[in-house]
Amino acid sequence: MNQFTSVHDVQDIRQLLKDALALKENPYSQQHLGKNKTLGLVFLNPSLRTRLSTQKAALNLGMNVMVMNMDKEGWALETQDGVVMNGATVEHIREAAAVMGQYCDILGLRSFPKLVNRDEDYNEDFFNKFIKYCNVPVLSLESATRHPLQSLADLVTIKETWKGKDKPKVVLAWAPHIKALPQAVPNSFAEWMCKAQEDGMIDFTIAQPRGYELNEDFTPGAHITHSLDDALKAADYIYVKNWSSYKEYGKVLTYPEGWMLNNEKLKGTNDAKVMHCLPVRRDLELSSEILDGPNSLVIHEAGNRLWAAQAVLKQMLEGLI
Ligand code: CP
Repeated sequence: MNQFTSVHDVQDIRQLLKDALALKENPYSQQHLGKNKTLGLVFLNPSLRTRLSTQKAALNLGMNVMVMNMDKEGWALETQDGVVMNGATVEHIREAAAVMGQYCDILGLRSFPKLVNRDEDYNEDFFNKFIKYCNVPVLSLESATRHPLQSLADLVTIKETWKGKDKPKVVLAWAPHIKALPQAVPNSFAEWMCKAQEDGMIDFTIAQPRGYELNEDFTPGAHITHSLDDALKAADYIYVKNWSSYKEYGKVLTYPEGWMLNNEKLKGTNDAKVMHCLPVRRDLELSSEILDGPNSLVIHEAGNRLWAAQAVLKQMLEGLI
């Protein structure tokens, strides 16, 4: 694997899941791969899970790791070409990315969308320029439109915990929030679940209020409904997440009551397990009774971020040999 920005970079999704679970059993078995190799993690936005799990994954593989909090410690970056840099920006991404590529064998990048101009965000301009100029393999730590390390950890969690005979019914359920959040996590989750559905692993449904429909490029083959109650019927896994409107880009629209998941709503499910990428706002996005109860998988899921990152880094390191 020479870059990891979406499920489309994965040749064999079942092998990647197998690698993640094998590394969970045997975390230090591949240390030879990372010897004398350096991972640089570049953050333009905050992080807890992605930062720590990816660092730990790299250390488990024998790599050296450097972290650059670009938003706080780096020079203000210019991303546009052909501009006279007589304003606030100090360094062009052409030089900044190229220099970081001189120090690192693999670079990870986190860059959230601005949620102002849909085309600009969905073109992934910043991410693509970084990839173009750094000249080393790039690992997405979450881009404007996708969060593939999270989605892989989510699929690992479903595969690991599902003990039923038939395929599990997996539901992505929109949830309320007070802030406008990106569509990256739900886009990416939908994209990975659609691929898993295509491979016969799961059945996938999305429940979203009117106005919050995701970009259809990310949801091929998904069952889509505007009724949360319908979606929850016989669900085995519920992936709770807020996102802002794609149609009225980046806006928080009004929405009907009753979209926060609680124990009452779980009654119509197949005793569903509940997932969330975290961070989560308790009793706004998801009820405390679920988070603190036996159906929650959120901590287990966050733990699997480590094995997802390690499986991806392992395949990227194998690509460097
Ligand atoms: N889920 C996730 O990516 O968490 P962080 O933003 O804390 O990295």
